[in-house]
Amino acid sequence: MSAQLFAVVGSKGGVGKSTVAFYTAYALTKKGGSAVVLDLDLGFRCQSVLFGVESDVVYDLSDLMKAQTVEIDKAIKKCSFQDRLFLIPSCADPFTRLSFDKLSTVCAALRARFDYVVLDAPPSVSRGFIAAITLADSAVLVTTPDRIAVKSASLCAQITAKAGVKSQRLIINKVPESPKSPPVIANFDSIIDETGVQLIGVVPQLEGLDSFSQNAKLINPKTTFMLSFENIARRLNGEDVPLLIG
Ligand SMILES: Nc1ncnc2c1ncn2[C@@H]1O[C@H](COP(=O)(O)OP(=O)(O)O)[C@@H](O)[C@H]1O
Ligand SMILES: [Mg+2]
Repeated sequence: MSAQLFAVVGSKGGVGKSTVAFYTAYALTKKGGSAVVLDLDLGFRCQSVLFGVESDVVYDLSDLMKAQTVEIDKAIKKCSFQDRLFLIPSCADPFTRLSFDKLSTVCAALRARFDYVVLDAPPSVSRGFIAAITLADSAVLVTTPDRIAVKSASLCAQITAKAGVKSQRLIINKVPESPKSPPVIANFDSIIDETGVQLIGVVPQLEGLDSFSQNAKLINPKTTFMLSFENIARRLNGEDVPLLIG
């Protein structure tokens, strides 16, 4: 069976696309499959921090774009704390020219090697974003529960559909767990209505997430944060799982 290839999108920076791409891929591997994240956010290379491989990236996406023949194995990095989770690091140079033909060859090679291929898209309508929605079978749209993020997510959903992506699922991220700090938009139904995308998960705001990410450390699997990704992974695999919060 061919691998699931999906893009994690959202037109606003900071809503948690890269975080969602990483932890969704991680959760998918916990069931025994293998996953690879292709980081398309040129220049930032945030996935290599999450994977704990930041200091030993030598060959990256820019080398794959420049080479005559795509030598995918050279660019694949294994996660420092999960054996079945892999990364193609993004280009260090934000001006690297992305070739859609080469990216398509890269994705075909990744599909042949892994069970899940996750494209981490950059914010806004950049070349990396267009490449992600052009190559993906489906999209995971990430928003936070605030007016500006939802407005941009709605626009992103329309552009993604226009690019021919038939299936989109919504993740509402950074939802405060404490009843003392309700989200700006407390009614998730209105977010679903405005984006027109079916909800697949609600991820809570996790205090101290940055220190886990910067040190590539594993988060307690019993936290609602990790359980929400476990459930997202199960829903992506077609299981019927009730929402944890919201
Ligand atoms: N659920 C969450 N709880 C707490 N912090 C989060 C959560 N999701 C993302 N973050 C933090 O928000 C910041 C932006 O996340 P990132 O995934 O890089 O966003 P994007 O890829 O959309 O620009 C990072 O510092 C990240 O650790
Ligand atoms: Mg990102």
